[in-house]
Amino acid sequence: MKKLIAFTAIAAVLLTACGSTADSGTKPAQTAKEVGSTKTEAGTSAETETTAAAEDNAEPSETEQAEQSETEESTAEGGILVAYFTPAENGVNDAMTSASKVNFWGEDMGNAEAMANVVAAYTGGDLFSIQTVKDYPLEYNDLADDAKAEQNAGELPELSTVVDTSGYDTVFLVYPIWWYTMPQPIYSFLDEYDLSGKTIIPVTTHEGSGLADSVSRIAELEPDAEVKDGYSVSGGNVAGSQEDIENWLKEQGY
Ligand SMILES: Cc1cc2nc3c(=O)[nH]c(=O)nc-3n(C[C@H](O)[C@H](O)[C@H](O)COP(=O)(O)O)c2cc1C
Repeated sequence: MKKLIAFTAIAAVLLTACGSTADSGTKPAQTAKEVGSTKTEAGTSAETETTAAAEDNAEPSETEQAEQSETEESTAEGGILVAYFTPAENGVNDAMTSASKVNFWGEDMGNAEAMANVVAAYTGGDLFSIQTVKDYPLEYNDLADDAKAEQNAGELPELSTVVDTSGYDTVFLVYPIWWYTMPQPIYSFLDEYDLSGKTIIPVTTHEGSGLADSVSRIAELEPDAEVKDGYSVSGGNVAGSQEDIENWLKEQGY
């Protein structure tokens, strides 16, 4: 009951915040490299990208092939991976009014994506967007219901993006808190990847729950990884959080 009351307050805050934008952050000269590739839709996306050149050449262009291999290439041994999930990149539409987005470095991003960009740019890590085959509804109430049902059923939604984690010693995992824990796609990620021997650092965005149960749940699911305490920023503060995140990273030795 206590939890229900707390979440009603969170929902009220979110409904007010939905669709709001705020300018923020200073984009560094050097931003992060995006890694990973799409498991299921490689053919479709190549087709979409080559539409203009389709009459001359049905194959992906050399530039596209180069881009693809660049995104699949991982940093050398000892690297840092910043893997994040945000519903804004996993929705049935990208209407500003229906997802919590922040205008960050001149782009509209989900809160978790904005934080992941800061972490990756500051640490020199590679960015990986954890995406799902299913589309999440982006209207808040529908998303809340969908996420709750998925969590109650213990579903592990199939991921559509894939990354080679072998070259990374440290994995920052960045995500919003959903119903007092990690979104189910983060559980899918931890189920799919063996992060033994790596350091995992959770970074969350939330409306009151902080890191929730993240540290202990990740430690249970990745028993041979070292899971650090992590960091969290409330959704309404993400726009102005760049300096705080960087200061925290500095304290961690980055
Ligand atoms: C389905 C859903 C459930 C949520 N549950 C919680 C929660 O239990 N505790 C909390 O503090 N915030 C909760 N929130 C708020 C989000 O964690 C917060 O708004 C976050 O900044 C959203 O990040 P995003 O833009 O990357 O989605 C929830 C949001 C959604 C959509």
